[in-house]
Amino acid sequence: MGFKEQIDKNRLPEHIAIIMDGNGRWAKNQGKFRSFGHESGVLSVKDIVEGCAEIGIKYLTIYAFSTDNWNRPVEEVNALMELFIATINNETDTLNANNIRLNAIGDIASLPQQCIEDLKSAMDKTANNTTCTLTLALSYSAKWEILDAAKKLAKQVQDQQLTIDEITEVKFSSQLTTVDMPDPELMIRTSGEHRISNFLLWQMAYTELYFTEKLWPDFRREDLFEAIVDYQKRERRFGKISEQLN
Ligand code: IPE
Ligand code: IPE
Ligand code: MG
Repeated sequence: MGFKEQIDKNRLPEHIAIIMDGNGRWAKNQGKFRSFGHESGVLSVKDIVEGCAEIGIKYLTIYAFSTDNWNRPVEEVNALMELFIATINNETDTLNANNIRLNAIGDIASLPQQCIEDLKSAMDKTANNTTCTLTLALSYSAKWEILDAAKKLAKQVQDQQLTIDEITEVKFSSQLTTVDMPDPELMIRTSGEHRISNFLLWQMAYTELYFTEKLWPDFRREDLFEAIVDYQKRERRFGKISEQLN
């Protein structure tokens, strides 16, 4: 039996977050430039997005570029920005055909102008799609996001639109870029690294973490289904004891 058949459709995670990692090493292993790894990684993104739509995952969030990735060699950053622009433009029709809505989180204003415009255009064109929301985290970091939320709340207090006691978990969450999304139940990171790298720190308080040795360009929907099967074997206790569940 394949992993897809083992998935319990009644207990699917609503939101899956992915740190796609290992593009550079994948290319280097073959004696190629890192940018070849990023280009190949796009095929994995396409397959995973379609795999999510196929089984009914409502939210998929992919970490595509962190604020710290701006510190990479300028040629790599430029190649990545070109790749984002080309992919967003090439894939809009496929997103529509699969009823997938495109969304973006992060410091979008820091991206090249062309990227901002094409992203906005693709988001507008897919805005009414309902099967799945694909969120690209671009120039994203969780510390940036949390600081930004804190500043917005501080401003509201300063302007006397909010009292300090009104700053609840729900209120704080409403200032984050993931507003309107449930927290991810499952986070997958490829390439054998066991860290979060500044991704969704607030939202992942109770997320189940899944790590695989596979490098991102080798990751396909069967691997995603395997991760979901693994997730469904876990007991999520949220601080309680086993006997209290159900
Ligand atoms: C992930 O692959 C893609 C981005 C961070 C943009 P990497 O580029 O980090 O690949 P490795 O980890 O160096 O192999
Ligand atoms: C995390 O990968 C960021 C993205 C996948 C976009 P990195 O490759 O940048 O993370 P570190 O440096 O290994 O922690
Ligand atoms: Mg990496």
